[in-house]
Amino acid sequence: MVKQDTILEIKQLATSFFTEEGEVKAVDGIDLKVLKGKTLGIVGESGSGKSILSLSILRLIFEPGRIVGGEINYKGEDLLKKTNRQMRSIRGNHISMIFQEPMTSLNPVYTVGEQIAESFQIHEKMNKKTALRKAVDILRLVGIPSPEKRVHQYPFELSGGMRQRVMIAIALACNPELLIADEPTTALDVTIQAQILELIKDLQKQFQMSVMIITHDLGVVAETCDEVAVMYCGKVVEYASVDQLFSAPKHPYTQGLLNSLPRHDEDQEELEAIRGTVPNPFERVEGCRFAPRCPHAIPLCFDHLPELDHVDGRHEVRCWIYTDKWEAKPEVRAE
Ligand SMILES: Nc1ncnc2c1ncn2[C@@H]1O[C@H](COP(=O)(O)OP(=O)(O)O)[C@@H](O)[C@H]1O
Ligand SMILES: [Mg+2]
Repeated sequence: MVKQDTILEIKQLATSFFTEEGEVKAVDGIDLKVLKGKTLGIVGESGSGKSILSLSILRLIFEPGRIVGGEINYKGEDLLKKTNRQMRSIRGNHISMIFQEPMTSLNPVYTVGEQIAESFQIHEKMNKKTALRKAVDILRLVGIPSPEKRVHQYPFELSGGMRQRVMIAIALACNPELLIADEPTTALDVTIQAQILELIKDLQKQFQMSVMIITHDLGVVAETCDEVAVMYCGKVVEYASVDQLFSAPKHPYTQGLLNSLPRHDEDQEELEAIRGTVPNPFERVEGCRFAPRCPHAIPLCFDHLPELDHVDGRHEVRCWIYTDKWEAKPEVRAE
């Protein structure tokens, strides 16, 4: 196998919130890799720790939250060992992030041009006039029509889709090597959503960026990603290439997510939702977090947490079914 360059390697990352009711392990020992020029998807239901994972990478976790363990190696250097000042430089020059809600991330009292230009002024020490000219170029690059006019408009004068394009423009202004997009299209309607994903894909190819897309939507994963990590309750339960994940999902949770996706190619009688709900985050659980909702769970699953382990090439799954401890019901082992 050809060795691929890893740009980001997360090891045993753990982030907790220390609240009056107790500790919430929002990110609970995560290992991940983002390869150069590739897209990694992070998928999971609301509350599974996706946003806290992405904010942890940029060290944007505040009280009562704290990164309590692990490593975040970006091009071989651990971001958890950087000073705050070094982190600001990383956020301005290497790793950019876009969020779900562009309206709350854009400043309403500055024009979009000023907000993009600010990045060029700070990081590339350009004067305002040159920076505004570059802002027009980058608005054109992200597909905003009449960028010469738009550059002087305020966020409220733009549609949701256009605002998200502006956010992408701001994120790209520093020429990042890694773009983290947290539910970048969730607030948008379906057609605009497709256009924004297409844009992210184009830009990624054009600039050989690495991208980490966070989403609760497997459709978005299928459209954009090379590899996927499925998260459940702060842990990765399955890690695979997109092809492997969609053709041979291994974890019962992933299988459930896929079963609840509408399919276009066949008559689907009824969408099967995953039964039960995400457990209470304060509850200490010894076993697999998914066991109470799992159709295959046996007593072992409730008492012991399985490791995230290789099943097939790079395909990894955290489930007893695929271990030699599993004798109960061999027929559920989807090969
Ligand atoms: N400020 C906070 N205080 C306490 N707990 C929090 C806070 N922010 C997040 N959490 C906990 O972290 C968990 C993961 O949150 P999040 O990463 O936002 O989920 P996702 O993005 O997957 O929907 C939540 O279920 C919540 O319990
Ligand atoms: Mg989130």
